[in-house]
Amino acid sequence: MDARTNPEAPPSPEHVTIRREDYRPPDWWVREVALEFELDPAATRVRSRLTVERNGDHDRPLRLAGEELRPLAVSVGGRAVEWAMDGETLVVAVAGDAAEVGTEVDIAPVSNSALMGLYESGGILCTQCEAEGFRRITFHPDRPDVLSVYRVRMTADKARYPVLLANGNPVAAGELEDGRHWAEWHDPFPKPSYLFALVAGNLAVLRDSFTTMSGREVELGIWVREDDLPKTRHAMASLKQAMAWDEKAYGREYDLDRFNIVAVDDFNFGAMENKGLNIFNSRYVLADTDTATDSDFDSVAGVVAHEYFHNWSGNRVTCRDWFQLSLKEGFTVFRDQSFSADIGSAAVKRIEDVRLLRAIQFPEDNGPLAHAVRPDSYLEIANFYTATIYNKGAELIRMMRTLLGDAAFRRGTDLYFERHDGEAATCDDFVAALEDASGVDLSHFKLWYSQAGTPRVSARLECDTLHLAQSVPPTPGQPDKAPMVIPLRTRLIGAAGELGEERLVVLDRAEQSVRFDDVPDGAMLSINRGFSAPVVMHVERAAGELEALATSDDDPFARYEAIQELAYRVLVEGGAPDALVAAFGATLTSNALDAAFKGEALTLPSEALIAERFERADPELIHQRREGLRRAVGTALAGPLAEAQAARAAGDDLSVAAKGVRRLRTVALALFAAGDPARGAALARAQYDAADNMTDRQGALMVLAGLDAPERTAAFDDFYAHYREDPLVVDKWFALQASAPRAGVLDTVAELRTHPDFTLNNPNRLRSLAGGLASNHWQFHASDGRGYRMLADFIVEADAINPQVAARLVPPLGKWRRLEEGRSALMRAELERIVGTPGLSKDVFEQASKSLG
Ligand code: TRP
Ligand code: ZN
Repeated sequence: MDARTNPEAPPSPEHVTIRREDYRPPDWWVREVALEFELDPAATRVRSRLTVERNGDHDRPLRLAGEELRPLAVSVGGRAVEWAMDGETLVVAVAGDAAEVGTEVDIAPVSNSALMGLYESGGILCTQCEAEGFRRITFHPDRPDVLSVYRVRMTADKARYPVLLANGNPVAAGELEDGRHWAEWHDPFPKPSYLFALVAGNLAVLRDSFTTMSGREVELGIWVREDDLPKTRHAMASLKQAMAWDEKAYGREYDLDRFNIVAVDDFNFGAMENKGLNIFNSRYVLADTDTATDSDFDSVAGVVAHEYFHNWSGNRVTCRDWFQLSLKEGFTVFRDQSFSADIGSAAVKRIEDVRLLRAIQFPEDNGPLAHAVRPDSYLEIANFYTATIYNKGAELIRMMRTLLGDAAFRRGTDLYFERHDGEAATCDDFVAALEDASGVDLSHFKLWYSQAGTPRVSARLECDTLHLAQSVPPTPGQPDKAPMVIPLRTRLIGAAGELGEERLVVLDRAEQSVRFDDVPDGAMLSINRGFSAPVVMHVERAAGELEALATSDDDPFARYEAIQELAYRVLVEGGAPDALVAAFGATLTSNALDAAFKGEALTLPSEALIAERFERADPELIHQRREGLRRAVGTALAGPLAEAQAARAAGDDLSVAAKGVRRLRTVALALFAAGDPARGAALARAQYDAADNMTDRQGALMVLAGLDAPERTAAFDDFYAHYREDPLVVDKWFALQASAPRAGVLDTVAELRTHPDFTLNNPNRLRSLAGGLASNHWQFHASDGRGYRMLADFIVEADAINPQVAARLVPPLGKWRRLEEGRSALMRAELERIVGTPGLSKDVFEQASKSLG
């Protein structure tokens, strides 16, 4: 075993592991930052003046982080001084306890393909600083516990960059004689460097205003390319809804006179909460019914709310260090989930959130990249913007709310914001505020922050006694686990449907028994209702129980769960489909259930989720079983499915009910087509042709994508011809083809790789094709390893351009332990090839080497 594949071998010298236990307060504070930008795409001059203050009694020099920067000048108190570089860090000796430190650098936004720091996207100059991008703009401590008041002056060519934006409020602007102009912005709220932002470009704006609960007027602006202006109305409406919601739900009011959102096409993530100047991936801003699906509309609302909510959970109270990332992300995801539940269907939102958690976070927790919600170490922080930090982190907040109750939880968050406003805090601080406001002891609960892995809980009802047991599997670096605190909303349901009291059972030992009074006749266990804890449940059930719960459980999530479990019996155990077909039929024709819920309930577990239930999966067998079940359902329920498919809602009706009708429509179409591919293809083509909205159109196209019918190519050609000028829709065109469950799709991906519209430089486009491929369970896992090779090629090529985005494509290859041996070896070989690539970034190195571990 050579050094590259031996997990015990030290990583290469430039890859330094950062540890949580090494945290020390900063040697120097930076109280004020004054920045001057002479903006130019090829050479931007950045002058910085930092007002620094010694922290404590020490004689250490000022150390300022930089990345790919060369100091042109360094001064202290206005006088040029000696300086030294320690690697990429600028070291300046400062006499006395306070000083003004000046630096000057040149940076080149056009050649910044990593999209961190100052870069260009479609002619717009913009920034992305979280987590450590500010050091690519200027020398600075660049750590989140150093908070400063920023003043920013930008100068730029007026014709090319007529709009100049930065954090906070505009204070002055003017013209220069050479066709240039300038603007100055001031942000009165001390903030960490990762929240710095500026934007310069030829942008159009949708303006609106919001009156806060204390009567202050806030000017809102959404800035986009002129042509995109008609697509900003939904984002604006969502923003105003989010502002009102945060006042009502958390008592949080906006604090500046301005709130601006800018959309750019090239962006590593979804969006960024820079103070007063959120910058978004355009896919989470732009939406109209011709080009965006209902799900896209929901994502826009969710992400706009998420970034807005960060103004309190993230900006007013920020993170002490990056190990505390879930302090802002877990809490803010929980807040945006609650918001979306309140403005839409709460039951369906919960089902969607749990589906995502199980599809992404559970496998992460179960694999080589498993880490705690508050990790202990990392090589590259960008790799820790994970489903564990975000989505499991949100589940932790949800569980604490369940344990405290709504009122005490709210007192706790009020206390948290009051105590830590203007500070950089820790996850412990958050929990302490909840404890102090409620009197509830959460010390045992806090294991959820430090212990990785998804708990397994088994449950068995014996007469009036519920027997529970839990175990947490070992994860990398954590071989032994202690029992966790697991809140389980539980109810007993009688054979005739009579409902017992709902109880909160808190499992906090390895084994525990709980007695119930008033046990209804033939009681059935409805447990982990609403998915009150992010665990894997094994419930021992009598024959016929799941079938009964699938039609009688009063908790929509638990009912959905019972139907899913019926499906797994067929898909994992190879059982007969009859019970599932009956449950689907009853659901489909029920008058009590709404269409949105029906759409969720009739969606079979994905092949990836089915694979998670096998110790070692055979993707071919899983595909065949799932297709067989889809065919059985489609044949048996052809009548009611065709009826559900025929129901339409007006394309511009975005009500919860109309979205539900459309969701069910395509789910029904897909099942119908599984039973009768020829008629299904014709029906799909008809749905495509008649569509007055993207939801119906994309749904039809998705169904056609998996069929070997002449309608497929014709529809894809038509779609491309119609939308080729719209990058977000072209992304859909790439993704739908790459993720199609169709033999021969790897040839299609290879062809699309050379399509003139394909580029590795745009993260959305790369994710559409490479991410689409990786999500195509059956074809990605082709037994000859071609899918693995193609993904590894994407990763290696993209790494030279954008390490963060390349690294996020690695995890699918890390599932090698969970596949049958032939595929397993092929996956490992690709990971080894990646790790052995000369000049690899530390982003990809960390993900690929840990995936081998
Ligand atoms: N804080 C952002 C969010 O969750 C995440 C983010 C945006 C990000 N851009 C990034 C993280 C770039 C890492 C790198 O809303
Ligand atoms: Zn966030």
